[in-house]
This record gives sequence, structure tokens and C-alpha cells, in this order.
Amino acid sequence: MKRMALGAHFPSMGQHVAAWMHPEAQIDGGHNFRWFVRMAQAAEAARFDFVFMADTVGTRDGDMRALRRWPQYMAHFEPISLLSATAAVTEKVGLVCTASTSYYEPYNVARLFGTLDHISNGRAGWNVVTTANVSASHNFNRDAHYDVNDRYERAREFVGVVKGLWDSWEDDAFLRDRTTGEYFDPAKLHALNHEGRFFKVRGPLNLARPPQGQPVICQAGASEDGMELAAETAEVVFLSKLRMEDAQGFYANVKGRMAKYGRQPDQLKMMAGLNVTVAPTEAEAREKFDYLQSLIHPDVGRELVSVELGGADLSGLPLDGPIPWERIPTESIASPSRLAAMRALVQREGLSLRKLYERYAGSRGSAQVVGTPAQVADMMQAWIAAEAADGFIIQGSFFPGGFDDFCQMVVPELQRRGAMRTEYEGASLREHLGLQRPVNHFTVRA
Ligand SMILES: Cc1cc2nc3c(=O)[nH]c(=O)nc-3n(C[C@H](O)[C@H](O)[C@H](O)COP(=O)(O)O)c2cc1C
Repeated sequence: MKRMALGAHFPSMGQHVAAWMHPEAQIDGGHNFRWFVRMAQAAEAARFDFVFMADTVGTRDGDMRALRRWPQYMAHFEPISLLSATAAVTEKVGLVCTASTSYYEPYNVARLFGTLDHISNGRAGWNVVTTANVSASHNFNRDAHYDVNDRYERAREFVGVVKGLWDSWEDDAFLRDRTTGEYFDPAKLHALNHEGRFFKVRGPLNLARPPQGQPVICQAGASEDGMELAAETAEVVFLSKLRMEDAQGFYANVKGRMAKYGRQPDQLKMMAGLNVTVAPTEAEAREKFDYLQSLIHPDVGRELVSVELGGADLSGLPLDGPIPWERIPTESIASPSRLAAMRALVQREGLSLRKLYERYAGSRGSAQVVGTPAQVADMMQAWIAAEAADGFIIQGSFFPGGFDDFCQMVVPELQRRGAMRTEYEGASLREHLGLQRPVNHFTVRA
């Protein structure tokens, strides 16, 4: 049976909008380092490929009556610092987090993830995002977010600069030879001398080439430009689809674009976001799921939908009535692709506002499964067999319970079926994922 890639996504108290209200959830999860270490070590014990921390560089601004009940990203550690500390108390599990191409500088990103790769002995991955959260712009000398097209053009240039900087030093540039008194070979040190539309970066980086050559590039864009950037540069794509047939279409679409960049389909692992509720019996799993759903406050539900619909004002709207499309913008500066996905779902299923937020509350538009360990494993294997995904990003509804359930019940089932490793074979994230170590492009040129 084909092995699948597995990542663990740890959003503060859990992925569900009401996660922190669950009596067993770690209530200060977003600000508790010990808790994060415990989660990362659980993922390592279950032999996950990596843990993943999402990020946004700002609070979310919106209706504070709702946001006070929905702390996602309001209480949130800076993830590169968090993963650097976690590297010291884990051995094998990959460490992946987000950094925004709209609000960072490439030199900083190359240095931060390069350092994380050294600290962790080759376990770092960078999730390249252009940032959908409009609020972030106000923290970086701007009054408005970048236009969506500009955002991706900047991202493309940004990734090129970062990869170029990681190659500043050839792998054997540091001689450290006391007999000759030479610390490094200047012939193996390369300035990038990049000048583009957005960045002017000379280089080189003051850091030896990362152990993986380049940390693993991850990406989660769903728009045309996002898919194009993924096909050109990403080695892992996080895909967010409710239905298998939509994931299949996305999978084929992105992989189909790779040939024109001289890339093979297996150089890119498509990993689907998956929200799992599992229990020994289907009835127990359903009961667990229904309990969390019962904790959703209607203000939070409204706000959740409003964010996806580009900030539409849904106040005063009856919860059990239809969505008034005439009040909804057709364009979203935050994410047109997410707005389109939600519109398509509502039109397909004729959902009321309440039904809609209930559908999004756990998985935010990614896949969702509620059932026994065998049913969850069946669903996962069906997606792999149908080329809807090469693996999954597991999103526990609440932490730690939602994730521990997956590790204790589904992981052994997948291992028994040969769909998941029982021991790490390699040391680096690239080895876990079966990705090649890139050759230094300066060496290739020489
Ligand atoms: C699993 C997953 C993780 C994501 N993590 C982040 C994140 O950390 N920060 C962020 O700004 N966006 C994140 N996103 C959103 C995407 O970067 C992207 O904005 C979204 O998928 C819409 O695509 P588009 O920007 O091409 O319209 C994530 C999406 C998925 C599916």
C-alpha cells in the first residue's frame, strides 16, 4: 500500500472555532511553550513527517464582540522562534512554519530558515504565503494590503532571492584549516547580485549552506497565481478542499503545470488539510463532533463567514435564512479564491448562514471526517488512491485530545496497513518526504 505524507497542524487551542471552549482543551495553548513541545513530541512519537505552525503578522481586526470569543491569531507566538526552541527538544520530526513574502525581507527569511535548518540538523520547511489578513499591512508602513497580483509577483521574486541566498556558500566552502590558516575558500563564496522589481539584494548570506541545501518550500495558494507559483517552486502544497473530486482537480491542475518549469510531478507533495474526529464507534465519534459544534457562538459563526466573504457585513442577518448575495462583494482583497470556494459551496448546497458556518467551523474549507479508526483510514487511503492528495495535514479540532485521538487510534491503523512509517528511516525533512537535496546552483553553473 502506498505510503502517505503526514503533517500535524497546531493552531493554538485547536482548529475548530470553538476549540478553546472545550473543557479538555489547553486553554492557554497559544502562549504555552511547554504545551507546544508536548504536541511536537507526540507528533514525533507517532512518526509524522513534520509539525506545522501557521502565522499571520497581526491581530485580526473585525467585530470585537465576535473576536473576543474566537482567539485564533490573537494569542499566538512568532513561529520561527517557537520552532527554533522546539528543535532542541525533538530529534527527527520536521519543523515547518509560515513567513509572509508581503511583509518580510528575503534576506531575513533566508537567514531565519537557514538557521532553523542548522539548529535542527536539516528539519526546516518554509510555508510561503502572501498573507490574506488585510490587517497586517498596517504594521509594515502601509495603509492597505498589496493587490493580489502584485502579491504573487512579489512572492515569486522573493522565493528566487531566498533560494539564491541559501546557495551563497558551496557545501564545501568552509575549510576551517589551522595548518594553512584559511577558514574558507573565497572561490566558493557567491554574491547573488539580484536586482528585480521588488528587491535589490547583493548577498551573500553570512551563514553556511543549510544542511538540506535548501529548507523545504511549502505553499498553500489556491488562486491561479498561487497554483502557478506552487508549480514553479513548491515541494509541498497544502490544499484545502472539502470534496475529493475538487481535490483531484486541484492536484491534476497544479501537477500539470510543473512540466513547463522542467519539474517532475513527484517533486511536489500535495497534502490535503484534514479535520479528524475519531472514536472507537461511529456513534461516539459523531457525539464528540456534535458536542464541539454545539459550542459555536452565533457571533463567531457570522464572523467566520464574513472573513471568508471578504469582510461582508452579515450583522442582523437571520441565521436560518439564505445568504443575501446582493450584499456580498464579488471581489475580495484578502483572498478571491477563498471567497469563490465558499460561494460555490453555498450555491451547490443551498446552505443557510448557520449551516454554512457549521460546515466551516472545524476545517475552514478543508476536508473533514468523523468516524472509527478504520473509516478514517479508509477515507485517507481513498484520497491517495484517487490522486486527490499525496498526504495530509492533520488538524485536530481541539488540543491535545483531538490530536492524541488521531495518534492513538488512526496512526496504528495506518501503520498496520503499511500506509505510514513505524520508524524514521532518515534524519532530514527532505528524507522523510522523499525529496531530493538540491544541488547548489552556483556549483551547477561552474
Ligand atoms: C493548510 C493551510 C495553511 C495555511 N497557512 C497560512 C498561514 O500560515 N498564513 C496565511 O496567511 N495563510 C495561510 N493559508 C492560506 C493560503 O496561504 C492562501 O491565502 C489561501 O489558500 C488562498 O489562496 P490564494 O492566496 O492563492 O487566494 C493556509 C492555507 C492552508 C490550506
